[in-house]
Amino acid sequence: MAEKRKAGLARGLTNYGDRDFSLYLRRSFAGSMGYSRQMLAKPIVGIAYTRSGFNNCHRHFPELLEAVKRGVLAAGALPMDFPTISLGEVFLNPTSLKFRNLMAMDTEEMIRAQPMDAVVLMGGCDKTVPAQLMGAASADLPAIQLVAGPMMTSRHGEERLGACTDCRRFWGKYRAGEIDDKEIGEIEGRLATTAGTCAVMGTASTMACIAEALGMSLPGTAAIPAVHADRLRAAEASGEAAVRLIANPIRPSQIITKKSVENALRVLLALGGSTNAIIHLTAIAGRLGIDVPLTWLNELSDTTPVLVNLKPVGKHYMEDFFAAGGLGAVLRELQPTLNLDCLTVSGETLGERLSAEPFYVDRAVIASADAPLETAGGLVALFGTLAPRGAILKRSAADKTLFESQGRAVVFSSLEDLAARIDDPDLDVEPDDILVLQNAGPKSRSGMPEAGYLPIPKKLAARGVKDMMRISDARMSGTAFGTIILHVSPEAAIGGPLALVQTGDRIQLSVRDRRIDLLVEEAELAKRRKNLKTADNREALRGYDKLYAQEVLQADEGCDFAFLKST
Ligand code: FES
Repeated sequence: MAEKRKAGLARGLTNYGDRDFSLYLRRSFAGSMGYSRQMLAKPIVGIAYTRSGFNNCHRHFPELLEAVKRGVLAAGALPMDFPTISLGEVFLNPTSLKFRNLMAMDTEEMIRAQPMDAVVLMGGCDKTVPAQLMGAASADLPAIQLVAGPMMTSRHGEERLGACTDCRRFWGKYRAGEIDDKEIGEIEGRLATTAGTCAVMGTASTMACIAEALGMSLPGTAAIPAVHADRLRAAEASGEAAVRLIANPIRPSQIITKKSVENALRVLLALGGSTNAIIHLTAIAGRLGIDVPLTWLNELSDTTPVLVNLKPVGKHYMEDFFAAGGLGAVLRELQPTLNLDCLTVSGETLGERLSAEPFYVDRAVIASADAPLETAGGLVALFGTLAPRGAILKRSAADKTLFESQGRAVVFSSLEDLAARIDDPDLDVEPDDILVLQNAGPKSRSGMPEAGYLPIPKKLAARGVKDMMRISDARMSGTAFGTIILHVSPEAAIGGPLALVQTGDRIQLSVRDRRIDLLVEEAELAKRRKNLKTADNREALRGYDKLYAQEVLQADEGCDFAFLKST
């Protein structure tokens, strides 16, 4: 007969071969932290806590943690925070994506190994939320995502500044010689001035909205600014809700379903959200055996309008989005196309949630479905001879005059090659060329960095060129913009067609036909393929580098590890 499931401190006892001894010892050691016997008898809400000196976006987490604990205690359970690794986007080398799966493993195993009945996941900076959702999906204990919330904007003269679209905009001006060292120094001190995640619809904000759209965060919490008192109230409410989930368990596997993933995809498209989010959502869904083929994204993209006027695509910032009605307003516009019977962590269905929300909306920031900013979704997947398994274009952030065009490739074989030559005054490049970067995909040494936003060559920037078509197997920051084709799969490092492109080749883009093609005869490609040298150095690797190189999947499969996907 199956053993009755234990709760609280009695869950998952350390194995000494004597269960009563294990519990006695655990209670004794837990008691050494000053808890009474009465407290230790309560159900436990774990809190996955990711404050780090290397994560500026989470600097307010101590205060937020207190609010979560308050909510848990008020609802009658014992809060126990525990650390996991934290991924501060700009502090990680070679790139934070490489460590997303490590954080997901850390989160999953610590949820499973420690005695808790539900868990609140405190994350925010780009890769932390997907990592926590991936881990929680695999552990499948009742879980609530609480995000950090976005930063507030700042000022530079008359201009509003928000990380990090404006970081790139001003850096582009600096490279073009439009602003000097002194001014870029001043801007550097004004771009990121409060706690919280990047202030635009970058990856962190997109993932916060996706977590809420999936039903894994409490309604109305995705966009609350990090420093707003409502953020603390959301933390308290998340703690309370986690306790409710102990009495009435709703597991991630009941919330993250094919239907809720479809809802999240629609939200991603309507936000004109980050290209990274498609990788993360694919990885999260993959933990529960749900495939997210890029053809699905295209089907939904045709019938999902862009509704949100936020940088990097539009004008406004996350604090404006919050004041304008937040994600609830977007969901209400999308309501006829959403699966309303999906469960959320609040215990309500999405349909129940939407029927109860107030209706104030600032239409300058969140358009209605009847008068959208764009009639089709912000992202589109491309297939063709250059990307047989797909590539991504954020069309809402791209130059539409290039959508049906072809150009001459100017190829950089690696990030090092790019850095060495992009600003060479003798570089043979014109504004209608296509910049191609190879060997920046998940299995490359660089681990798929956000390098797909290739800089405009200095000599062209000085001539006023602001955008060019750029193609790579890399990613791009969610805060970046331009005609940039990313995530080309299969990648160059494993011999994908991208590896065969040479300077002078013609490449054709057709957004209408969803195609990206290398216009080179097959006989010539076969010759190149034969001579292709793939720099496989896996034998020389050790530790996590080795695991990553061996197991990471291509972008179209979410860059998860093969052995972590649900079978
Ligand atoms: Fe953390 Fe942008 S650096 S969200």
